[in-house]
Amino acid sequence: MAPRRRMARPRTRSGKRVFQEACVGCHDWSGESPVSSWATLIGAAAVNDPGATNVAQIVIGGTKRLTPEGALSMPAFGHAYSDDEIAAVANCVTARFGAEVSSLTARDVAEWRRQVPIRPIQALFTGQRCNR
Ligand code: HEC
Repeated sequence: MAPRRRMARPRTRSGKRVFQEACVGCHDWSGESPVSSWATLIGAAAVNDPGATNVAQIVIGGTKRLTPEGALSMPAFGHAYSDDEIAAVANCVTARFGAEVSSLTARDVAEWRRQVPIRPIQALFTGQRCNR
């Protein structure tokens, strides 16, 4: 008999599950980033936009910024998660940290995927760096 996979993954993860896997290390459940004040989600314009456009785009494509303290980047998750999962995590983030819950759908995410470039190297990153 073939050995069972140690952890069967659900086909579609919930937004909370994605946040737990991929975001919590850098953004924390409180929304206050342990990594950098630039990454604190509480009070960020992106999470207070009920359209959640920037949230979805940043999750798909990642971001890189030069700050006075040095380069800061968020990895792209466009290749790591499905449209449903990205919509779910964006809705989870606005619900938890924003003023109003967004209601993004997989269809919205599919549309942005066509527009947002996914940075290739970062796309391979799965979040371990933050899970220590
Ligand atoms: C390796 C650390 C890291 C991981 C993992 C990470 N982020 Fe980020 N995130 C950042 C950093 C750093 C910034 C700030 C980037 C900037 O200001 O340019 C940021 C910014 C953001 C913003 C924009 C905040 C604003 O100020 O407008 C959102 C929304 C966001 N992240 C959501 C997520 C979600 C959702 C996940 C999981 C799918 C995630 N992040 C995973 C580091 C990370």
